[in-house]
Amino acid sequence: MLPPVLPGDFAAGAASPSMPTRLLPARWKDTIPRTRFAASLTFGVGLTRSNRSTVAGTHRVPGDKSITHRALLLASLAPGESTLHGALTSQDARSTARVLRQLGAMIAPLRDGRPVTVLGHRRFAAPDGRLDCGNSGTTARLLLGLLAAHRFTAVMTGDASLRRRPMRRVTEPLVAMGARVTEPVHDGLPLTITGGRLHALEWRLPVASAQIKSALLLAGAIAGVAVTLHEPAPSRDHTERMLQHFGFGIEQRGSVLMLAPTGSLAAFDIDIPGDPSSAIFLIAAAAIARAGTVRIEGVGLNPSRIGFLHVLKRMGVQVGAVQTTVAFGEPRGTLTAAASVLRAVTVAPAEVPAVIDEIPILACLAARAAGTSRFAGLAELRVKESDRLALLAGNLRRVGVVAAVDGEDLTVTGTDAPLGGTVVTHGDHRIAMAFAVLATQPGARIRIDDPGCAAVSFPGFAATLADLFGRAA
Ligand code: S3P
Repeated sequence: MLPPVLPGDFAAGAASPSMPTRLLPARWKDTIPRTRFAASLTFGVGLTRSNRSTVAGTHRVPGDKSITHRALLLASLAPGESTLHGALTSQDARSTARVLRQLGAMIAPLRDGRPVTVLGHRRFAAPDGRLDCGNSGTTARLLLGLLAAHRFTAVMTGDASLRRRPMRRVTEPLVAMGARVTEPVHDGLPLTITGGRLHALEWRLPVASAQIKSALLLAGAIAGVAVTLHEPAPSRDHTERMLQHFGFGIEQRGSVLMLAPTGSLAAFDIDIPGDPSSAIFLIAAAAIARAGTVRIEGVGLNPSRIGFLHVLKRMGVQVGAVQTTVAFGEPRGTLTAAASVLRAVTVAPAEVPAVIDEIPILACLAARAAGTSRFAGLAELRVKESDRLALLAGNLRRVGVVAAVDGEDLTVTGTDAPLGGTVVTHGDHRIAMAFAVLATQPGARIRIDDPGCAAVSFPGFAATLADLFGRAA
């Protein structure tokens, strides 16, 4: 077996022999309406006190969202039939599949537990209508990079949340490469892009962002031009790993990332690991449970995605990670977490890019930790699916936690008093799931206004969370 990912972890294997596997029968999963079930979970109806406070079992989470988007995008431009195993089938992944179909790719319906086949072509076809990216920033930004390398005009749009998110951070460098972009309204969607013959690019990224970086790398790869990026801090590197797989030259020298357009796309098979950004919700629920241990198998352990393990360990969470395999350049393995006594934590700005999607759940854990936690340098949270910084602090206060925003920093003071109140999600999946975890605490009376929005990234979230507490037994 490969060594633990974090030195000093308690071995994931040690807790396993006595642990029952509690997988829901597929039929049960399919027939319980997600919203009704989520509501009953968040109100605590139907769960006994002891059931709710002890976690157990071996679990899985849906496929990695970042890798699923990238696999769909690259398979659509790889001539021939590619097969994606373990792909995420959530609303965001469906948005990517939908727009790629408009661009000529033949993509099988995204169904849970079924491989997704993609028949790709070397070039996209000009789309008939607007490309609606739904709620997905990754779809919009990475697609912009690919469209910049195609000589036709496309109009991109999205839902109300996505339309308010900044796009100039991606379109400015694409225009510098030779694309034309018009924004009728503001810095955001809808916008019109006309691709062209692109030039090589050297660019300083204004923020540490895998979406900006990936859009520019993909533009360079498809147009066949070199790209040199200066990064303020590292961000997730799935695009680099995939492009390397196809023979593109990827070199990281300190903060400078270089793409040499030496590769070409060919049809591929990929087995996509579980999403660590989804697994953390189960880990967090275990951490604040009264007792028990859980294992989550088949989770992606790419080091650029599991920065949260370091934060959790500093908070006193008993968490372990053991790598089992590497596929398509992506390590995967088992995460283990046990009920723990939590203490406050400080997260510095330099650490934020590595835990950008995990801040909501880390802040909710801080609400159950002794002392005052500080998360510093959270400006990017303001332009996620919601203004996550304001929403997080507001919701923590709504359920009875002392929380404050000071500039770009968030402070949260932990309490062991029962929490209660209504959480306003603004349709933000990670806000909904973070507070659903707090709602598992005995005595909590937390209502979530739109628990169903978890389906943006984690189909079946409520059932999986309930299963952790033995709901299926
Ligand atoms: C993502 C990058 C991150 C992250 C998002 C997914 C990606 O966004 O928040 O959920 O797949 O590249 P930024 O790169 O804008 O920080």
